[in-house]
Amino acid sequence: MPFSDPDAVADYVSNVIRQVPGVHALHRMAHLLLAERVATDGHVLVLGAGGGMELAAFADASPEWRFTGVDPSAEMLALAALTLGSSAPRVDLIRGYIESAPDIAFDGASCLLTLHFLDREQRLHTLRELRRRLKPGAPLVIAHHSVPDDPAEKRLWFRRWAAFASVGTVTDADTEARADLMASCLPTCAPNLEVGMLEAAGFERPSLFYAALTFRGWVTYAG
Ligand SMILES: C[S@@+](CC[C@H](N)C(=O)[O-])C[C@H]1O[C@@H](n2cnc3c(N)ncnc32)[C@H](O)[C@@H]1O
Repeated sequence: MPFSDPDAVADYVSNVIRQVPGVHALHRMAHLLLAERVATDGHVLVLGAGGGMELAAFADASPEWRFTGVDPSAEMLALAALTLGSSAPRVDLIRGYIESAPDIAFDGASCLLTLHFLDREQRLHTLRELRRRLKPGAPLVIAHHSVPDDPAEKRLWFRRWAAFASVGTVTDADTEARADLMASCLPTCAPNLEVGMLEAAGFERPSLFYAALTFRGWVTYAG
């Protein structure tokens, strides 16, 4: 499990910056979309909060927001506490899955670089539980790998992403192997299914705001 491997966790932040095109801009856009509807003193739920990168970006940009961050990995939560630094007192970090998040009405939520690890059943369940914890009309921002289902198309996009993510550090054969691994192991959904699942979970008006190689991000609102 990469998120409990000490070496992988130690390199987490630098790997994300190298592997996710425009990740800092993604955090700024996610914050902007949340801030359209979350009040100055709002409470935001961050699912898959390990590492703390988006928590730190949101906390810096909105100094009065409070946060609940949920993640199953103790190691990634420890890294989040470190990344948060002086913002840590405004964040409750909880080890677990969505069921461990308090059953209160949050003002907004995010789930970044996480849902692509969940199979369709777990994903729909997670989205429904997220919906249950949001005030009506509250925003949810998600972003993760989302590629076409067609095997050749899927492989092509993961090959492009692997070349981007590992530029200069590995051989072509390594890049090919990584693309194969991602295409065969991640239970990705095609963009139209992502939208369908958000709607099936009770979210409204999903809008694409981020697209970069294999990554897609949507903002949507609790119905
Ligand atoms: C690639 S990291 C993303 C972390 C952070 N959101 C970011 O953007 O940097 C994926 C995180 O999801 C967590 N995770 C895996 N399965 C999860 C689940 N079912 N619910 C919530 N978090 C999960 C992992 O422990 C890991 O910390």
